[in-house]
Amino acid sequence: MGQSPISPAIAWPAKSTQVPKEIFVRQDVYAEEIKRIFHGPEWSPVAHASEIPNVGDFKTCYLGETPLLVARDEDGGIQVFYNTCSHRGTQVETAVSGNRRNFECPYHRWVFDLKGNLTACPLRPDDAVNFTKEKYPLEKPRVAIVHGLIFVTMSPEAPSIETFLDGYEDKLLNVMGGDGRLKLLGYHKLQLNANWKTYHDNDAWHAPLLHLAFRMLNWQGGKGRQFANDRGHRGFESALALPKGQTLLKDASLIEYRGGNLERGSCSLHLFPLFSAVKHLDTIGLRFVNPSALDRTDIHYAYFGREDDSEEMLRHRVRQSSNFLGPCGLVSMEDAAVFQRLHVGSHTPGMQVFQKGVRDEYAMPVEFSQNDESVNILSWEYYRKVMGFAKEAA
Ligand code: FES
Ligand SMILES: [Fe+2]
Repeated sequence: MGQSPISPAIAWPAKSTQVPKEIFVRQDVYAEEIKRIFHGPEWSPVAHASEIPNVGDFKTCYLGETPLLVARDEDGGIQVFYNTCSHRGTQVETAVSGNRRNFECPYHRWVFDLKGNLTACPLRPDDAVNFTKEKYPLEKPRVAIVHGLIFVTMSPEAPSIETFLDGYEDKLLNVMGGDGRLKLLGYHKLQLNANWKTYHDNDAWHAPLLHLAFRMLNWQGGKGRQFANDRGHRGFESALALPKGQTLLKDASLIEYRGGNLERGSCSLHLFPLFSAVKHLDTIGLRFVNPSALDRTDIHYAYFGREDDSEEMLRHRVRQSSNFLGPCGLVSMEDAAVFQRLHVGSHTPGMQVFQKGVRDEYAMPVEFSQNDESVNILSWEYYRKVMGFAKEAA
């Protein structure tokens, strides 16, 4: 976490409640973030094992600007490869997901099996003297799997996954439906015309103010709580429920909570830098988020039921996932519209300001109620340290 080399240097204010707007719009800051965060010693989930249940199932994705390929091998194991041919570096697989017996690079027809071994290439008598197929498998990043969630890091310096999660394994399990045995229901994708940190910062306070859907669920008056740690992770738990006498929906079955075996109506977990696991009512969603440019962020929402759900429960979850949070739903479009405006507004001097729930403008907050935005201050502090931005004197 050395000093940032970017110039002009970012003047990070002494008050913990202020974040400089320029970090959202400077290309040099973005380039440094890719290096220090997305290609640096952090862990990022890229898929859940239940997305590729069968031998040969695969999914492509990105970690920062690095293309990855996640596959289920012949022995049922999970493999993650850099999505680049070991010959000249061509992207090997371009489909978003699918099923293959092997991966073939189109350029010179090298073929890799599901474990990444090079199994065939047009062998010619004039191959290099020492050429053998064993020397050229697909390369792999480091991988750790927690409750089926597949984490990846490109850095040998990254700590263990346990150190990274910093005690949040149980919270992760709770959000994923209690035991991590999930069944994929479907995807939707969203591209935000905004810097990735607008999504990273996504606070709880705005929920009932921007989203009528959450107001309908009595968010503001709810008895939820938020939590955060020094590692940049944070989360939310609340027993959201439809208040009696609501008149906004004619048929409230869309937002009915059937509960299953879970304690709470809603909970979410945001892991630094960009992964979110969200359970709102009966919607279980994992959000694989990745920056694709300074002003563009790709969100890949994956929705799940539980392996032992009845057909009826699965139908209920699909209906709720696609209508409550999904692309034609009540919540996601509002976020996308506001984050775009936040990005436009960030091309101005000055600071973003945090105030809701703040007791001391210079200290790190420790306790948070459901609607506080002060909980975000801890992840900003972690970001500041990782980026090596020095704080001004108080
Ligand atoms: S680059 Fe893939 S086979 Fe040549
Ligand atoms: Fe939102």
